[in-house]
Amino acid sequence: MDRFHPTTGTGRDAAPSGAGIDPKYSIGIPEMDAQHARWIGLIEKFRSVGSAHLMDRAGINAAIHALEQLLKYTQSHFASEEQFIAGHNFPDLEAHKKQHRELESVLVKLLDEAHAHATGGTPLKLNLFATVWLLEHIMQEDDKYARFILGKPSL
Ligand SMILES: [Fe+2]
Ligand SMILES: [Fe+2]
Repeated sequence: MDRFHPTTGTGRDAAPSGAGIDPKYSIGIPEMDAQHARWIGLIEKFRSVGSAHLMDRAGINAAIHALEQLLKYTQSHFASEEQFIAGHNFPDLEAHKKQHRELESVLVKLLDEAHAHATGGTPLKLNLFATVWLLEHIMQEDDKYARFILGKPSL
């Protein structure tokens, strides 16, 4: 059988759960890792576009577009994740949902400010903080439900 076996080049087996995700962000649940990989791609896209060319209209518009795409997928991922962890009876579901709402509101506020100040780049300088919060959420908060679901001890 002519099956394709991807190699990582490191001598380790390619983890099927990773879906291309940076191992440091993997929580060990394939479905969520796959969503996180896509989410991180959008976070990084916004960070790179939002960090450059903010002195001209085209650059600001590109940053706003990247932020809109990020917000849309953030809302979709959070809804999917909440359904997933509710299905596994995660006891801290409500607290986790609250954190999701807070992160969404950070992005909504950033987008509102970007639209309101579309002739200047100042508001978008906050994007670095926002992207760090999103990435930290995966490593700190999502990791908690993953440990619960996978039956691993908390760190
Ligand atoms: Fe997540
Ligand atoms: Fe989450």
